[in-house]
Amino acid sequence: MKIIVTGGAGFIGSNFVYYELKNSEDEIICYDKLTYAGNLENLKYAEDNPRFKFICGDISNRDEVYRLFEFDAPDIVVNFAAESHVDRSIEDPELFLRTNIIGTSILLDACKKYGVKRFHQVSTDEVYGDLPLDRPDLFFTEKTNLHTSSPYSASKASADLLVQAYQRTYQIPATISRCSNNYGPYHFPEKLIPLMIINALNNKKLPVYGTGENVRDWLYVEDHCAAIDLIIRKGKVGEVYNIGGHNEKTNLEVVKTILKILGKGEDLIEFVTDRKGHDQRYAIDPTKIKTELGWTPKTKFDDGIKKTVDWYLENKNWWEKIISGEYQNYYAKMYGNR
Ligand code: NAD
Ligand code: DAU
Repeated sequence: MKIIVTGGAGFIGSNFVYYELKNSEDEIICYDKLTYAGNLENLKYAEDNPRFKFICGDISNRDEVYRLFEFDAPDIVVNFAAESHVDRSIEDPELFLRTNIIGTSILLDACKKYGVKRFHQVSTDEVYGDLPLDRPDLFFTEKTNLHTSSPYSASKASADLLVQAYQRTYQIPATISRCSNNYGPYHFPEKLIPLMIINALNNKKLPVYGTGENVRDWLYVEDHCAAIDLIIRKGKVGEVYNIGGHNEKTNLEVVKTILKILGKGEDLIEFVTDRKGHDQRYAIDPTKIKTELGWTPKTKFDDGIKKTVDWYLENKNWWEKIISGEYQNYYAKMYGNR
C-alpha cells in the first residue's frame, strides 16, 4: 500500500515515518511544507530507503494537493500536518486556521475527488478543553464534549468536525485519534520537555509558567505511532480513538525529573507569567483503543524520559542548529519580558 504522511518532517510525523518503514512493507510518501517545525534532518535515516519519498508541499494549496493525489494515488493518508504550538497560536491565530482547518478540508476534498481507502486525522486531547486539578477521578473519553481553550485547540476541533462531516456526507472512510502530550526524539525545542533539557544543558533558566501545577498526560512518541498504525489498519471507519497511557505529571514534576537526570540544581527553575487561558489538566481514558484494538503503551515515563534526555545528549548537533537560527528571535520575543 501507499501511505501519504502529511507533516512527516515534524516531531511525531518523522517518528511515524520510521515506525512504518520498520514495521510495514508499505511505501511512504512524506508531504511537508517544511515550516520552522519541519526539518529534513529528521528524515535523514529514511532518505535512502527505496520505499520512501519526500515531497515539499502545503496542505492548504489545493492545486499542489490535487497534483499529489493524482500522481501518487495514495491508499491511506495520515494527516499530521499542522501548526502545533499553543503559545504561537495565542500570538498569531490566523496561520493556525489556514493550515489546521482549511488545509484539512482541502485534503478531505482530495480524498473525495480521488478516493482513498482511509483518511486518518491526527488530532489532540486539547479539543476536550481541560479538567479541574481537584478532580483526579475525571478523564477525557471519546464522548466528552468538545470545549476548546486556545486558537490552536479550536482549530484542531474545527478540523475534527469537518472530518466527521465529510465522513457522514460523502462517506469518506475517515478515522480520528486524539492523543495526549508526546515526548521523545526530534521534539522541537519550543515545547516543554526539549526546551527544559536544552536550557538545563546550557545552564540557562527553566521558564515554568505560573506555579507549575498544571498537569499533562505524557506518552512516549513511539507508542503514539503504534496506536495510529493500529487504527489505520484495524480501526473502524467513522470512529474516534483516544490515545494515552495514564502518565499524568505536573509540569514541575517533569522539570525536576529532567534536572535530576542531568545532575543539575533546582535553582535553575524560574517561575514566569502564566500562559493565557492555560489548560489545567489533561487526562485520557484509553479504554476504547485498549479493548477494541488491543493497544497498550510499552514505554514507562521513567524509562522514556531517560531515553529522551540521552537522545538530546547524543544529538547536540541537531538542536544546536535549530536554536542558533530564527528560533533565537522567537525565544527572545516569547521569554524576553516574561
Ligand atoms: P510539529 O510542529 O513538530 O510538526 C508539524 C509538521 O507539519 C512540520 O513538519 C511542518 O513543516 C508541517 N506543516 C505545517 N504546516 C504545513 C502545511 N501547511 N502543509 C504541509 N505541512 C505542514 O508537530 P507535532 O508535535 O509533530 O504534531 C503533529 C500532529 O500531531 C499535529 O497535528 C498535532 O496537532 C498532533 N498532536 C501533537 C501532540 C504532541 O504532543 N506534540 C499530541 C497530540 C496530537
Ligand atoms: O496534549 C496534546 C498537545 O500537547 C498537542 O496537541 C500540542 O501540539 C502540543 O504542543 C502539546 O501542547 P501543550 O501546550 O500541552 O505542550 P507544551 O510543551 O507547550 O506545554 C506543556 C506544559 O508546559 C503546559 O502546561 C505549558 C507548560 N510550559 C510550556 C513551555 C513551552 C511551561 O511551563 N514553560 C514553557 O516554557
